[in-house]
Amino acid sequence: MPHPVAIAPSILSADFAHLANEVAQVAQGGADLLHVDVMDGRFVPNLTIGAPVVASLAKATQLPLDCHLMVHEPDHLLQDFAKAGAKRLSVHIEACRHLHRTVQRIRSLGVSPGVAVNPHTSFSMVEPILREVDFVLVMSVNPGFGGQSFITAVLDKIRAIDDWRCEHRPALRIQIDGGITTETIGAARKAGVDWFVAGSAVFGKQDRAAAIAALRAAAG
Ligand code: DX5
Ligand code: ZN
Repeated sequence: MPHPVAIAPSILSADFAHLANEVAQVAQGGADLLHVDVMDGRFVPNLTIGAPVVASLAKATQLPLDCHLMVHEPDHLLQDFAKAGAKRLSVHIEACRHLHRTVQRIRSLGVSPGVAVNPHTSFSMVEPILREVDFVLVMSVNPGFGGQSFITAVLDKIRAIDDWRCEHRPALRIQIDGGITTETIGAARKAGVDWFVAGSAVFGKQDRAAAIAALRAAAG
């Protein structure tokens, strides 16, 4: 029972020296959300950006800021991201010791909470949190880098989440992140995905509007 398609370009693949211009291009090109990858150099090997950049982005764009925290024990950062203007915050099930508390904290800050799950994390691990979150971010690559290849095995987990929401919580949204291209997006949509993160498939192309339109068309 999928919801309308939303395309969320990931600024990880943008030119950080011209971020406002890059973001304006995807906003004009029909993006629905702006995906912001926050990496701590511990939960994932890479290091990216923090709340100050999100605060600047919030001034530069009307797009809802969808912040993906690839951060070990992220609780100490939640308030900063809420204040900076994040509309959605996802935290990794693998990175949180007390996940319900973390999710409730995000909601109490007035931000929409999501849980992110690595490719190897099973449906049974994520099921206990599904009643508490607004969305599930299913990673279809191991987090840390843009431009990796889609891991097809996650489609079974997406189908299981989709079946669960049909029965228990139709409002739940399913997001996918990693290796989304015009080749892979159709199968993800069929499995039940609503929101599609795309880094290199948008910012790796010269014409961002055409790239977003091509993804939307391929999603079906
Ligand atoms: C990876 C990030 C992704 C990344 C996706 O750890 O969470 O959001 O930007 O990049 P692509 O779409 O190039 O796989
Ligand atoms: Zn991401």
